Amino acid sequence: MNYRHAYHAGNFADVLKHSVLIGLIETLKQKQSPFCYVDTHAGRGRYDLHGEEARKTREFADGVLRLLDAPRLPAALHVYLNLVRALNGSRASHDIAVYPGSPLLASLLLRDEDRAQLCELQPDEAAALRALFRPDARVAVHERDGYEALKALLPPKEKRGLVLIDPPFEAQDGEFRVIETALKQAQARWPNGIYAVWYPIKLRQQLASFHRWLKGSGFPKVVIAELLIHPDNSALRLNGSGMAIINPPWKFDRQLEELLPVLAQHLSQGRFGQHRVEWLVQD
Ligand SMILES: C[S@@+](CC[C@H](N)C(=O)[O-])C[C@H]1O[C@@H](n2cnc3c(N)ncnc32)[C@H](O)[C@@H]1O
Repeated sequence: MNYRHAYHAGNFADVLKHSVLIGLIETLKQKQSPFCYVDTHAGRGRYDLHGEEARKTREFADGVLRLLDAPRLPAALHVYLNLVRALNGSRASHDIAVYPGSPLLASLLLRDEDRAQLCELQPDEAAALRALFRPDARVAVHERDGYEALKALLPPKEKRGLVLIDPPFEAQDGEFRVIETALKQAQARWPNGIYAVWYPIKLRQQLASFHRWLKGSGFPKVVIAELLIHPDNSALRLNGSGMAIINPPWKFDRQLEELLPVLAQHLSQGRFGQHRVEWLVQD
C-alpha cells in the first residue's frame, strides 16, 4: 500500500467525487429520519495543500482552485465551496491550505442524529482520521479493510444511507473485480442502500467489464456520471473519472445533469472536456 491521497487531494477527480457525495448527502437530509454514511476507503480526512506532497504535484491547482471564482454554481458545488472556504477562513479567496476529504465533508453535513462509519487500512492515515474525529460521537473510525468491514457494518440500524467506495486502484483493473465482489455481498445484506463508487478513467475499454457487471448486477437502478479532461485513449495517465451510483435518490440524475457540464466547463484541459450522465439500469 503505497498510495497517499495527500498527493491528489483537491484534484479534478476529488471535485467530481466530493460534489456528487455532497449532492447525495443533501438529498438524504430531505427526509427527517436519520441515516448512516459508510466510507470504505476514508483516507486521513483532512489534507494540507501547503504540505510537501500536495506541493509536489499541485494537482489541486487544476481542481478545486479553478472553481473558487466561478459564478452561479449548482447547489452541490456551492455547498462544497462554502465548506472548503469555511475551513480556510479569510485566506480562502485564492489560497486553500486545508482541503477536506470525504469523511470531513460528510461529517460537516451530518445532523446530530445521523452517523458515520469510516474505514481506513493504512495505519498512519487511520491514526490521523481517528484524531480528527475523536471529539465527534457520531463518527466511528475502523482501521481495517473497508471491503471486509461492509459485512459487519451493513445493513446499518437506520436502514437508510450511503456507502462511498473510493479505493486507490493500486491493483489497476483488478480493483474492479474486488469492488464487484464487495457489492454483491453488500447487495445480499442491504439491497436498498445507496452505493457510490468512484473509478478512474484511463482507457475506455478498461471500463467495459465493470459497466457490464453493473448492468447485470440485479440492482434496479444504476446511473453513471463521468468527467473526462483528456481523451480516454491512454493507459498512462488519469484522463478522467466517474461515479457509479447504485439506487440513487429519486431524480438524482437531474442534479448530475446540472452538475457535470459546469464541472466540464471549469475543469477542462485545453479545448478538451467531455461529460456524460447515463443510466446503466433503470427500472
Ligand atoms: C482515494 S483514497 C481515499 C480518499 C477519500 N475517500 C476522500 O475522498 O477524501 C484511498 C484510501 O484507501 C486506503 N486503503 C487502501 N486499501 C484499503 C482497504 N482495502 N480498505 C480500507 N482502506 C484502504 C488508502 O490508504 C487511502 O487512504
